[in-house]
Amino acid sequence: MNGKQAAGQKAIEEIREGQIIGLGTGSTVYYFLEALATKVADGFNVIGVATSQKTIKLANEWKIPMRTLSEVEKIDITIDGADEVDPQLNGIKGGGGALLYEKLVAKSSSRCIWIVDSAKTKKQLGAFPLPVEVIPFGWKYVRNYLSEKGYAPTLRLDTDGHPYVTDASHYILDLHLNTIVNPEALANELDHLTGVVEHGLFLGLTEKVIVGYPDGHTETL
Ligand code: 5RP
Repeated sequence: MNGKQAAGQKAIEEIREGQIIGLGTGSTVYYFLEALATKVADGFNVIGVATSQKTIKLANEWKIPMRTLSEVEKIDITIDGADEVDPQLNGIKGGGGALLYEKLVAKSSSRCIWIVDSAKTKKQLGAFPLPVEVIPFGWKYVRNYLSEKGYAPTLRLDTDGHPYVTDASHYILDLHLNTIVNPEALANELDHLTGVVEHGLFLGLTEKVIVGYPDGHTETL
């Protein structure tokens, strides 16, 4: 047992029969999917909407019935991970590169719950590099703008040293900020920057965070 496993398994208690469930992305969500797959194998009836190709692959392997976001009218609940969470339940997401689809699914959901290990809870956001998803055609313009602002952007690369490409065929710039004093102001600035598709500041989007600890216990924020 580790903190991610504890949080992922605990989140299954939030799920009800018949629900349409947003399925997040990452190594913590893996444990939630594993627990969900066990229930589905026992005849529990749910439908999943994935936030990434990685999650679709896992869900298919585990025979969780799936739809795309455009095939459903609404999502009842989304379970997703996060890279950092502050005491106001604002967070940074996108470490796994799925921020755009994660935000669309979160905004389509009646309820949104994050599952994190205890290392992810922070007094202030910003130690984790903030992902900004950009149109490839304009990535240099956006990088130069953000660089001049002192946000220290770096283009995310894949294991072959090429630009990392998201499921929606965009690039990612990671901003090395150390601390984000005013998340709302930064989100607003990025929301209005030409060439930016989405950013990893998720503000006011989750109602609950399940924190898992290495000894296997959990607490809810
Ligand atoms: C992917 C995400 C993930 O939820 C986030 O990176 C946390 O991942 P993990 O559970 O593997 O630590 O935002 O885009």
